[in-house]
Amino acid sequence: MKSDITEIILENCGLGAIKIDSQARIELWNRWMELRTGKSGESVLGCPLKEVFTDADNSFFDTVQYVLSTGLPRVLSPVFHFFLNPYDSQSKQLVKILPLFDQSADITGTLILIEDMTAHLEYESEIETKAREFKEFGKKAKKDEEEALDWLKQQIQFNNAITECLEEGIIIYNRAGIVTFVNPTADKLLQWSRMELVGSNINVFLSGESRVKDVLNTGESIHSDNELFRRKDGSSFPVSYISSPIILEGKIKWGIVTFQDITERKRIEKEINENLERLKKVLDDTVKALSFAGEMRDPYTAGHQRRVTQLALEIAKEMSLGDNIKEAIRISGILHDIGKITIPAEILSKPGRLTEYERIILQGHSQVGYEMIKAIDFPLPVADIIIQHHERLDGSGYPNGLKGDEIRLEARILAVSDVVEAMSSHRPYRPALGVEKALEEIERNAGTLYDEEVVKTCVRLFREKGFTLE
Ligand SMILES: [Fe+2]
Repeated sequence: MKSDITEIILENCGLGAIKIDSQARIELWNRWMELRTGKSGESVLGCPLKEVFTDADNSFFDTVQYVLSTGLPRVLSPVFHFFLNPYDSQSKQLVKILPLFDQSADITGTLILIEDMTAHLEYESEIETKAREFKEFGKKAKKDEEEALDWLKQQIQFNNAITECLEEGIIIYNRAGIVTFVNPTADKLLQWSRMELVGSNINVFLSGESRVKDVLNTGESIHSDNELFRRKDGSSFPVSYISSPIILEGKIKWGIVTFQDITERKRIEKEINENLERLKKVLDDTVKALSFAGEMRDPYTAGHQRRVTQLALEIAKEMSLGDNIKEAIRISGILHDIGKITIPAEILSKPGRLTEYERIILQGHSQVGYEMIKAIDFPLPVADIIIQHHERLDGSGYPNGLKGDEIRLEARILAVSDVVEAMSSHRPYRPALGVEKALEEIERNAGTLYDEEVVKTCVRLFREKGFTLE
């Protein structure tokens, strides 16, 4: 019974099992052995071990003999190569040789147990290889990391070198408005130390109305020349800045503002503006002096040029014309009859009708005015407007008989204003005819002598908007 159970166990233990007697003849050859060697139990039972394992190393037989003679168990090396069959050159076995005793403790044989270690050893070797690979990988990763850090350091040094030599201050802040980067120029301009500024709120140097941080909400860059930044001591200075969002993965992460101190630029701009204003005033005074000189020669038309200018400017305003046109009308209005300065006083103040000769002399005033004014380098076409102020749409005017659009719009406006003012006022050769008569005159000749649009505007000013000549 005991023997049956032992044999069942040996059949199913997953090991090779060979039982030999004291003469090393095979008594048991389990299925595992049959499968691995291709030799059936029947063919080997009773055979001496040496005849079955013809290829086995001598050390195997010596060890079996040792166990048989001493009764001491032995284990062959864990990587013992035991040729189970002629084609087997790779498998490795753990071979245990155990002594068997009878009841009198005499050695009756041995039990040889063979465990195939190939898969186990291969697994171990694989683990060893993997471990070596991981070690190599670790070394490489460390090297890569060191290289990446070196590269990063170089980039930072490069960026610092760039930001340090720039004349613009650069400040980067996060979405909470906390400053995270300050370049040396920003330090210098704001007079904060970098250590103080980093970690502070950007508001410490912005004015209450500053638009710098708007970029965090809009995502759009802003350029401004009209803000003041505050220094540490509370004083302010004008800056020109560009504020931009820094967008990562589609989200606004930081804001960056680059700025310059434009105190000097603003000072020069102010100086230029003051000089320009002074020059404008000198020009204005000169124009008025010229106009006054003209009116001194012709007391009956004193104030005529001022009133014509007043009406012409009102028409230009009502027609929504640009500033340059209005300025050209203002200057040429005040000077339009300056050419009369050369006309003899007898003709200017003659109470009766003029002779043909006198009329020709008088009509020369627009050409003379042009010659006088063209010498002045006005930035506006003043001389051209003056020479055209007696031209008429149908070509019946003087001195050049220009027609329609050949006459400048400013001159067409002056012409209407000139006629209305002249007819409304007293003249040496006739009493004042009144505004209504003047308006009827220009309405009657709108489109033939006078510009229709200008006439309509002029009439509307008087009849609907309550305009009066002063
Ligand atoms: Fe005139």
